[in-house]
Amino acid sequence: MVTVRDLREQMGETPITMLTAYDAPTAEIVDEAGVDVILVGDSVANTALGYETTVPVDVDQLASHVGAVARATDEALVVADMPFLSFGVDEAATIENAGRMLKEEGASAVKLESGPHTVDITERLVQLGIPVMAHLGLTPQHVNQYGGYPRQGTDRAAADRMLELAEDHADAGAFSLVLEHVPSNLAATITDAIDVPTIGIGAGPHCDGQVLVFHDAVGLSEWTPSFSKQFGDVRSEMESAVDDYVAAVEDGEFPAEEHSHQEGDLGDIY
Ligand code: KIV
Repeated sequence: MVTVRDLREQMGETPITMLTAYDAPTAEIVDEAGVDVILVGDSVANTALGYETTVPVDVDQLASHVGAVARATDEALVVADMPFLSFGVDEAATIENAGRMLKEEGASAVKLESGPHTVDITERLVQLGIPVMAHLGLTPQHVNQYGGYPRQGTDRAAADRMLELAEDHADAGAFSLVLEHVPSNLAATITDAIDVPTIGIGAGPHCDGQVLVFHDAVGLSEWTPSFSKQFGDVRSEMESAVDDYVAAVEDGEFPAEEHSHQEGDLGDIY
């Protein structure tokens, strides 16, 4: 099993790989491919649950996906992404929600979309034995505040604030830091400045690792962000399989003899 300590040791040696997964068969594929970290992202909202943004997904929904992924994973570190407002409002509720992902669902860590308000929470969770992955740059749970999904850290003041927050979260005990949609020179500076691994998405090649949303990486999403890359065309494969199924049923080719069985003991009327 990959541990948070393994990731720290891997830092600067071999790039860390991370992908999202939301269900058991996907987790099996990702795990068997040797991916280091599986994130059960709140992106489940857009990719699997039909929501426009990640804002509506709740703890029960996320927990059910974390359980499915954890049960199917043998090696990778499973990280549960904490939903919007499931942390940072009330300390006891934050601990209960994060703790549930480890105690009941089998995750080994949680991720918090981070800001000034998550430094103390990170420290508290870590004290309690809940490893925390921080997340700076574009934090999609702020979509309503941003009015979209803009690049982050694009001016000097914003870059300075992000660097300081990255250092604060590393000092608070975060075991890793996701950097989303930030300039690669800023990501490189942050990666040099902190002693925990950075994992980039739209943050250039200088991070200690990379993460993509599974549906984007395999070509299942209808739309992918500019910083992503499709490594397959799974959507076309699925469309063609479904077309073939419909045609086979309509043409009477499916089910064939080998997909059916008869019983001799059913009596005369059958
Ligand atoms: O929810 C998610 O999938 C994420 C990754 C994009 C980092 O937060």
